[in-house]
Amino acid sequence: MADVWDELRVTEFPVARRWAYLDHAAVAPLPRRSGAVLRAWTLEQEENGVVNWPVWADKLEAIRDRIASLLSADRDEIAFVNSTTQGIGLIAEGFPWRDGDSVVIPAEEYPSNIYAWMNLASRGVSVRLVPSRAGRIWPEDLIEAMDQTTRAGDQPCRVRFWFSQRPRPAGRDLPGSRSGSLRGRDSGLRSARDRRPEDAD
Ligand SMILES: Cc1ncc(COP(=O)(O)O)c(C=O)c1O
Repeated sequence: MADVWDELRVTEFPVARRWAYLDHAAVAPLPRRSGAVLRAWTLEQEENGVVNWPVWADKLEAIRDRIASLLSADRDEIAFVNSTTQGIGLIAEGFPWRDGDSVVIPAEEYPSNIYAWMNLASRGVSVRLVPSRAGRIWPEDLIEAMDQTTRAGDQPCRVRFWFSQRPRPAGRDLPGSRSGSLRGRDSGLRSARDRRPEDAD
């Protein structure tokens, strides 16, 4: 097994030749194959402008399908955004909030994952910040902070930027997992994904 990871490190992560590089957030070093795609894209732009636009569009839709499959989601649940901050902002600003709604998030979240929700105060939406205990975010603490007013919550299913907690391995089982249970389908609460019938346009 070690061989597989060693090979992956050498072939896919050129940065690992020189560094033990642990910051893989917004300013992460690129994997080899991502760099290759970007280089090809630049060349394409130089040589053909937007002539091949339909080909790009087809590729984009194929990628949407693959990501949906990876996340066990529907393809119309996948949106492409420039950054995490932009994606959170789109949800925060676009969701049909009602006066008295609440949002539950870990207190030590990355700042741009907090401010977009705080910005909803003028629309009557309150933010409940759940502090960590013993250096960890506990799903039960987040659930405890939720009630029938809670319409969005951050799921503790990825690396926390503050103390690098990784509560459970990322994998295809996430939608039905413990962290998935924070979503409204199991708990009677709702996340940004679960719209109520009365929210229909
Ligand atoms: C946990 C976490 N969330 C959000 C962000 C912001 O990401 P982006 O630059 O894609 O908006 C970062 C950036 O490092 C992060 O570490």
